[in-house]
Amino acid sequence: MMICDKVAKLLQEQIGHEFGASQQYLATAAYFGEQGLDGWADEFYRQSEEEREHGMKIIKFLVDVGAEFTIPAIAAARPSGIESPLDACQKALKGERAVTDQFSTMAREAIAEGDHVSGQFLDWFLNEQVEEESTMDRYVKLLETGINPFQAEPLLGDPHAD
Ligand SMILES: [Fe+2]
Ligand SMILES: [Fe+2]
Repeated sequence: MMICDKVAKLLQEQIGHEFGASQQYLATAAYFGEQGLDGWADEFYRQSEEEREHGMKIIKFLVDVGAEFTIPAIAAARPSGIESPLDACQKALKGERAVTDQFSTMAREAIAEGDHVSGQFLDWFLNEQVEEESTMDRYVKLLETGINPFQAEPLLGDPHAD
């Protein structure tokens, strides 16, 4: 195996966190869909896809470096646990911050272990988290202005996207 055991184990766990986030965003999209907020729903279905891709990226990396791993079980996610559009975005931002912490921990371990292969791989995720947190932070701030969520729909999406 080309990477250290500690980071390999954390990456295996991270597969579950990414698929868990994907599941959570599906529930969030469903919540918005139930409110008739189809623009918000589409944005969170897209976010859900992205999280699935993150999980896939880790799986492919672990295969490439010859690590043994299990794909973790994913917890249930309930649209009914969301109280408002602002609550949905606050929960999403909190979730993204937790993921950033997870990647920071892995990057610290990789450096401590002299595992440059993992370090290089983790850099991509750390950059991605800057975008992810910034997007969710923007949605929280947008909704905190008290704007009608229907009127906010044209403002959704990644302003940095090509
Ligand atoms: Fe992710
Ligand atoms: Fe994310």
